[in-house]
Amino acid sequence: MSIMRVAIIGAGVIGLSTAQSIYEHYHSVIHPLIIEVFADRFTPLTTSDGAAGFWQPYLYDNGKVEETKWNKETFDYLLSFIKSPESVKMGIFLQSGYNVCLEPAPDPSFKDIVLGFRELTEREMQMFPGYKHGWFNTALMVEGKSYLPWLMDWLEQRGVKFHHRKIESFKDLAETGADVIVNCTGVRSGELQPDPELKPGRGQIIKVAAPWLKHWILTHNFNKGLYNSPYIIPGSQLVTVGGVFQLGNWSEANNSIDHKNIWEAACLLEPSLKHAKIVEDWCGLRPSRSKVRLERESVQCGPSKVEVIHNYGHGGFGLTIHRGCAEEAARLFGQIVEEKGETLKARL
Ligand code: FAD
Ligand code: BEZ
Repeated sequence: MSIMRVAIIGAGVIGLSTAQSIYEHYHSVIHPLIIEVFADRFTPLTTSDGAAGFWQPYLYDNGKVEETKWNKETFDYLLSFIKSPESVKMGIFLQSGYNVCLEPAPDPSFKDIVLGFRELTEREMQMFPGYKHGWFNTALMVEGKSYLPWLMDWLEQRGVKFHHRKIESFKDLAETGADVIVNCTGVRSGELQPDPELKPGRGQIIKVAAPWLKHWILTHNFNKGLYNSPYIIPGSQLVTVGGVFQLGNWSEANNSIDHKNIWEAACLLEPSLKHAKIVEDWCGLRPSRSKVRLERESVQCGPSKVEVIHNYGHGGFGLTIHRGCAEEAARLFGQIVEEKGETLKARL
């Protein structure tokens, strides 16, 4: 098939991985396949960079089986690189740890995805006073601060172009000749097309130097909701201490009251943190939605229509689910390619 222009809006983990999947599946089918990425924030300034980079979905998928499938695809994809030297540049490594709950809870959706999932023993539970139930498993870290530059290098080497630019409308891009637009704009997607379902889930974290901490600990308080109870996630350089989840709060400024609350709760959970050196606070907006929006739409742009693939709304699990979503977006792209091919054939 002849020339096709794809414009991807967004250079977080979702935009870059979608560009990668589209390239992998179609560069040998379409000549030339022109892929361009447009974004007003690039690494290290995206939400995906600041996130802890821990692979773990929400405990329960509430029937969203597609999302569980995409989470698993992402885990298996990342795991396939674990024994490659490339893993260091990618920012991926294995990491084990504890999920602990204030009350007994059913097994989580990821029990058969992660490695070595098991319930905690009574002796282990004694390390977490007040908590009634928990699990141990090995999962993966995929740190945006390494993974995003790795993805950008990978794409650049294959001719993908990057444009530092704010996109005001899909029409803007359609006018530059894009055949397909992929919308990976995260929490700000509502600026391009209103979406009452999409809300910011503000998070704040503290990055500390505490190299003696080797296991992650995530606590779950079902009365307070997700990520509003303490978590500690050791990374390659620093330990991430969280967290909060404030639905509807658009502030990207660090807040001293949040800092105090996060720190006090984390020190109760892990008293050795009192000796940690605090390096920085960071705040980001999770693109929260009842479910990921991953679908096609024909959007009227002036006299013509342009095909848009939406891939946003990944909440607090964008790194966890990115590759599965990128592959699904590439599949939707394939449908469009086929349809455009049919239209061309019909015109001949
Ligand atoms: P982003 O990374 O925000 O990228 C959006 C891109 O779109 C940017 O490049 C931006 O410039 C661009 N953009 C938007 N609008 C426009 C426009 N109009 N024109 C041009 N460019 C535009 N997830 C995990 O899986 N594991 C974790 O451990 C984890 N920890 C987290 C901790 C915190 C405190 C927070 C806040 C989030 C965490 N997350 C975690 C969630 C994760 O960060 C997000 O789900 C993920 O970053 C979303 O990726 P994205 O590419 O959609 O968005
Ligand atoms: C968060 O969004 O705060 C988060 C996501 C995954 C693991 C830990 C924290």
